[in-house]
Amino acid sequence: MIFLSEWIKACNLEQVKESQLFGFTINDTKILLANLKGKIHATDLICTHANADLSTGFLSEEGVRCPLHLSVFNLENGEPQNLPAETPLKVYNVKIDNNEVYVEV
Ligand code: FES
Repeated sequence: MIFLSEWIKACNLEQVKESQLFGFTINDTKILLANLKGKIHATDLICTHANADLSTGFLSEEGVRCPLHLSVFNLENGEPQNLPAETPLKVYNVKIDNNEVYVEV
């Protein structure tokens, strides 16, 4: 089976300012945007450990920290840096076009 991806508009660039997190849902896929030092990353919005919304977590140079049990996920590869989470978040490609953020889903 072939799965085709598509670029979808997530938000305007000013909705995800530096050091901020932004969560949204598109076609039942929940996605987190994170602006780390001016670079926008996109990952799954829901923690892989339990049902926690990572947009209510904390962003630092290490990545995004889950608000519930404090696992930190690397934003480049989605890998958890500490327990209890063991499964990586899915990461998505991001592009900026005309001050709008697009994510490949
Ligand atoms: S729900 Fe995120 S670490 Fe447990």
